[in-house]
Amino acid sequence: MTHFITLEEAANEIKNGHVVAFPTETVYGLGADATNDEAVAQIYTLKTRPQFNPLIVHVKDLAAAEIYAELSPLARRLADTFWPGPLTLILPLKTPSKLSKLVTAGLPTVGLRVPNHQTALALLDEVNLPLAAPSANPSGRLSPTDAYHVAKLFEETDLSILKGETSKIGLESTIIDMTQETPVILRYGGLSIDAIKEVIPQIEFAGHSETIKAPGQLLKHYAPKIPLRLNATKVYAGEALLAFGDPLPTSGPSLNLSPSGDLIEAASHLFSFLHELEEHADITAIAVMPIPNTGLGHAINDRLSRGANREENK
Ligand code: TXA
Ligand code: MG
Repeated sequence: MTHFITLEEAANEIKNGHVVAFPTETVYGLGADATNDEAVAQIYTLKTRPQFNPLIVHVKDLAAAEIYAELSPLARRLADTFWPGPLTLILPLKTPSKLSKLVTAGLPTVGLRVPNHQTALALLDEVNLPLAAPSANPSGRLSPTDAYHVAKLFEETDLSILKGETSKIGLESTIIDMTQETPVILRYGGLSIDAIKEVIPQIEFAGHSETIKAPGQLLKHYAPKIPLRLNATKVYAGEALLAFGDPLPTSGPSLNLSPSGDLIEAASHLFSFLHELEEHADITAIAVMPIPNTGLGHAINDRLSRGANREENK
């Protein structure tokens, strides 16, 4: 059974090398002291995640980031503009490093971000440690946006959960690799590419061929329990509907990501609505209406197509 704990208890657990689930503005994370190998190993165990996946390290501010990584002027400009917020920067690791090699999967780089969430920042302040924290879901399951999703996903374990305000953004952070000459987008996420382009016009996009740089690109990563059928223009008998804009007619279970067609609103509901729909035991699939590929639509469609691609990444 999972259990809820206070901020003080959470800080103590982390200092003692245990894993605590905590809220961020993107999704809930499974947090542990990023300088403690055993603590970090527990994260991988809980997630049943392939060991080669490096984890994102959360720090309380830019000054804390500079303890662990080299920030180029360009990286500093992004950090100044978007931290705290849903942006992870992959940066050259400063050596020697106190960070566990398990966190970086042995790479000479580290993914850092400052979360924009009161409870997360209070926890970072209280522990005064960098926190490794992937999304708080077992590999291949949906990411959680509230404490009850986490409790459901880990009900078989005795995971401690620090409850806080629901994750407003509802999508993982956007990841940019800042270790090349031109910054490369490794993962679409809660910060739109348009916003990033206003600060740095020159960016590239990692193709699928180039994978494993961000193994978050593994297809099954976001699969719900029930098959997804994308770009649905009608709903078949036995299907649930995940609508966007004017909903398709259906007599089955149905939720609308955004009746007004607002992509930010849709992103914030995406994981929680999929969680809710997959609980209908009698449905055969979730029919998902088309989502436009603009703004946060990229990240939403990215998550949905991974969820739909259940066979490719078993
Ligand atoms: O919004 C988020 O980013 C959430 C919340 C909890 O902050 N965290 C999250 O972490 O999504 P995770 O571990 O699920 O995703 C980490 C992604 C993976 O795709 C990983 O491979 C990539 O970041 N990553 C981390 N460090 C990296 C590195 N040094 N080089 C390349 N990719 C890295
Ligand atoms: Mg994840």
